[in-house]
Amino acid sequence: MFRRVHGSGELLLSQIYAVSSTLSYFAVSHWKEKMGRALVFGLCFLLLSPFPFAFSEKCFPKEKKALLQLKKDLGNPYIITSWNEKEDCCEWYCCVTCDERTNHVISIDISSSIPDANLSGPIPPSIGDLPYLESITFHKLPNLVGPLQPAIAKLTKLKSLFITYTNLSGPLPGFLGQLKNLELIKLSFNNLSGPIPSSLSQLPNLGSLQLDRNKLTGPIPASFGSFKKPGPDLMLSHNQLSGPIPASLGNLNPDNIDLSRNKLEGDASMLFSSKKTTQVIDLSRNKLSFDMSHLTFPKKSLIWLDLNHNNVYGNIPVSLTKVENLQQFNVSYNPQLSGQIPQGGELQRFDKYSYFHTKLCGSPLPPCKK
Ligand SMILES: *[C@@H]1O[C@H](CO)[C@@H](O)[C@H](O)[C@H]1NC(C)=O
Ligand SMILES: *[C@@H]1O[C@H](CO)[C@@H](O)[C@H](O)[C@H]1NC(C)=O
Ligand SMILES: *[C@@H]1O[C@H](CO)[C@@H](O)[C@H](O)[C@H]1NC(C)=O
Ligand SMILES: *[C@@H]1O[C@H](CO)[C@@H](O)[C@H](O)[C@H]1NC(C)=O
Repeated sequence: MFRRVHGSGELLLSQIYAVSSTLSYFAVSHWKEKMGRALVFGLCFLLLSPFPFAFSEKCFPKEKKALLQLKKDLGNPYIITSWNEKEDCCEWYCCVTCDERTNHVISIDISSSIPDANLSGPIPPSIGDLPYLESITFHKLPNLVGPLQPAIAKLTKLKSLFITYTNLSGPLPGFLGQLKNLELIKLSFNNLSGPIPSSLSQLPNLGSLQLDRNKLTGPIPASFGSFKKPGPDLMLSHNQLSGPIPASLGNLNPDNIDLSRNKLEGDASMLFSSKKTTQVIDLSRNKLSFDMSHLTFPKKSLIWLDLNHNNVYGNIPVSLTKVENLQQFNVSYNPQLSGQIPQGGELQRFDKYSYFHTKLCGSPLPPCKK
């Protein structure tokens, strides 16, 4: 409570001093008659003073200033009306969180449940003047435009960068690789373009990289094989990524890897191993071309395997029947995939639409010709 007193705080102290010296004056000279009146007077004085508010103001003035500038630059949107000069920013109704111990602003979360067109413009540079920020969230703001603000490079404490369903455009800046505390980068459903910076692999704590549904181009960086083990979840679907999947990705053991709906080509067998503990592998709708016959699978963990719309060839290995909890499986639209569908495990749980547009045969497809 008393850790921080700014501005009017000193005024408050002098008010208390004035009240207490008034009280002691009355106490000494007219002790009996005047005491009651003085107490009432003093109490009123304290209650009417603006002081209790000033005393509990936790927000750092510099940070409040940065937030108010941010609000102004975003066009004073309705969603952050509660950001006002008069109140403690740590008490604002929406979208700001202060650390309970230090009172620094550690989180901004401007998430709308329906697309809110009222917030507009690029992410303002004043966001860089909130040096204690650990978490930034912007969600469903179609008029949030422009590039990822370069001043974000100053936010070295940032753990979570979550910007989804906006019209953020331009490239993914290399500076993200310097924000060593980042644990989550989720920039799905935006309008980002250009290549994925290889420097992201330098983030030692990254647990999830979600860049799906943008317009990213170029290859998956080979450096991604050197992410700290087991490697982050990689959600890169619905972009225009091209070229081969780097062989180095075989070093990783992510829980989820979704590279679907890109233009990736060549081998993907490095993503499969009985030694991994991956749960979801979605490679559908690419131009991948590799022999499936000798793959092994994480038999305890794998629940989702989608390879539809590629050019996977060979046949479905019997080892797939050993996967205990396969819930989604799809190899349709791989015109070269051939041979008998192994019988057993979970493989007959799926209907013909998991296997059609291939040269496969056997249940759930018609029997193989002798
Ligand atoms: C946008 O803000 C204006 C005032 O600045 C307000 O009149 C309008 O209702 C707001 N629209 C939405 C969708 O909140
Ligand atoms: C991006 O802006 C366009 C209009 O310019 C809009 O139709 C679209 O919904 C916006 N995207 C998102 C994710 O809000
Ligand atoms: C989305 O990005 C493209 C460039 O890739 C740009 O031409 C377009 O204006 C952007 N849309 C919005 C709404 O920012
Ligand atoms: C497998 O993928 C194909 C092609 O997208 C789709 O038509 C089919 O419904 C999918 N099957 C299942 C079981 O999801």
